[in-house]
Amino acid sequence: EAELYTEYKGVYLSKSMNPPQSLKYLEDFTFRPDDIIIATYPKSGTHWMQHIVGLVLNGGDPTSVDTVYNWKRAPWLEQAATIALNLEERPSPRVFSTHFHHNMMPRSFFDVDPKVIYVMRNPKDVFTSYFHFHEIASFLVKPGSSSEFLHKFLDGKVQHGSWFDHVKSWLNAENKQHIMYISYEELSADLKTSVAKVAEFLEQRLDDEVMEKIAEKCLFENMKENKMTNYSDTPTKILDQTKTKFFRKGVVGDWKNLLAAEEAEHFDAVYTDKMKDVEYSIVWD
Ligand code: A3P
Repeated sequence: EAELYTEYKGVYLSKSMNPPQSLKYLEDFTFRPDDIIIATYPKSGTHWMQHIVGLVLNGGDPTSVDTVYNWKRAPWLEQAATIALNLEERPSPRVFSTHFHHNMMPRSFFDVDPKVIYVMRNPKDVFTSYFHFHEIASFLVKPGSSSEFLHKFLDGKVQHGSWFDHVKSWLNAENKQHIMYISYEELSADLKTSVAKVAEFLEQRLDDEVMEKIAEKCLFENMKENKMTNYSDTPTKILDQTKTKFFRKGVVGDWKNLLAAEEAEHFDAVYTDKMKDVEYSIVWD
């Protein structure tokens, strides 16, 4: 299994998803100051935020956002073939998504400080969501049992490495001026207020009713039914949604259905140890 991964700047990455040419492409990538980057550890609400940002930038008009498939927003992540998307020609503001750690971002990112929306989620729920995702995604290694996967997850021996390192890299970024931090739990608790926060950060003036409409479109049930967001066109051999959907549950606290009490305790102990040098205060159950 280890041979399916490579270590890049200390982070576990899948060789097939992140071949050397993709990493080279990222290293040479030129960010613009008005680019918008959604940064997340996998399963933290990436697609949710992508949809919010897309709608906010388009004043809530779904017709224009829906012409852009999600995967096109993360062009350097997967096949080098996406280079053919010709990002250089794309008009501003360009929206990107990345699962890379802060220290993996290329030179130009640090030169121009584009706006970043960093979304984070209770790591026990991230673990739970990632476990189920590994069962349906053919491009990931089968997870084994949930306790086997737990060891790998806590050790950072999964695609995109350690959740702890990821979150710390972004929370402890030297220049935080251009980064907005938001959690999955905040989105879940009050979507409309979260939409307003995003709009303000992106300097978009939106009427109250438009924000209301955006929040409605971004509800789990609605995104789950939306063909542009639910990956229903993706072949089963790549993403097998016959048993588990990409839009699986979309709730807070599902870890309680997967982790045994002593596993959750162990998880919390690792969390306390690894997160002790983080200033940002996060309250998760
Ligand atoms: P679950 O597996 O817990 O259901 P990502 O987009 O980063 O891959 O994250 C996927 C997770 O976000 C999945 O979690 C998915 O169901 C959830 N999600 C996606 N859109 C959502 C929405 N509109 N509301 C709530 N959860 C959403």
